[in-house]
Amino acid sequence: MTVRGANLELRGVAKRFSGNDGDVVAVDGVDLVARDGEFVSLIGPSGCGKSTLFNIVAGLERASGGHVLINGEELCDRLGASAYMPQHDALLDWRRVIDNVGLSLELQGVRRDEARRRALPLLQRFGLGEFTRAWPWQLSGGMRQRVAFLRTVIADRPLLLLDEPFGALDGITRADLQQWLNQVWSEVGATVLLVTHDISEAVFLSDRIYVMSPRPGRVTSVIDVDLPRPRTAAQKEDTRFLAVEQRLRHELNAAMSAWGEFAGSQP
Ligand SMILES: Nc1ncnc2c1ncn2[C@@H]1O[C@H](COP(=O)(O)OP(=O)(O)OP(=O)(O)O)[C@@H](O)[C@H]1O
Ligand SMILES: [Mg+2]
Repeated sequence: MTVRGANLELRGVAKRFSGNDGDVVAVDGVDLVARDGEFVSLIGPSGCGKSTLFNIVAGLERASGGHVLINGEELCDRLGASAYMPQHDALLDWRRVIDNVGLSLELQGVRRDEARRRALPLLQRFGLGEFTRAWPWQLSGGMRQRVAFLRTVIADRPLLLLDEPFGALDGITRADLQQWLNQVWSEVGATVLLVTHDISEAVFLSDRIYVMSPRPGRVTSVIDVDLPRPRTAAQKEDTRFLAVEQRLRHELNAAMSAWGEFAGSQP
């Protein structure tokens, strides 16, 4: 893999959806920076616009206001700049594991045999070598997420957008996958933007965490996670780790209660 990172900058990004029942402001005035090779997380309540922001960064939705810069440029077409792992794993049940991973390449016009040739070492290197010929329905939930993630990585894009990749998994599988993700990310070197609802996961994986308020989603605080890497499960018991977790919990509570006062002051 030859992936390196990209510098991503959001300046004042807003998104308003118009519907029959009026407009919905999903996000408003969002500033965010993810530098080359950084791991940055977004955390906030359901409906605060996290997936909307990802759709904007990926180029699937147009922002109603603000700017999205990749390596300092505001691209008209951002579709090729990032690889997106959506909130729900979308493995195709009629394709074997190797061809699910290779799908990203086939969509770029790569022939299937070449896509397989490139998918195989990736699957072997990251613990799925035995399952290349399996069908998705033969896999556990954790393995499905690994396959979906490798399909994102193989696209060879400098920016990876991971929308709650482990949301549906039990705690043990989730912890295992966090460690695995850390390893893959450190080898690939891409810039990662992750959405999570999980405080411990955000701290464990991130260089920086953006806390968002309920809708309309705004960034209410930014937390730098200055903990040594590579991170290990044992660090989760460490007082420094626990202190960052506590600060994040506090900031999330503050975002929720500030919003409560804001909403209460509306007519
Ligand atoms: N295409 C759309 N048309 C109209 N409203 C939309 C559209 N997409 C999202 N919204 C609204 O925008 C708001 C933000 O939605 P979004 O899916 O981005 O939230 P989220 O933070 O990802 O939530 P969750 O954590 O539950 O995934 C919601 O109120 C949602 O109903
Ligand atoms: Mg979402």
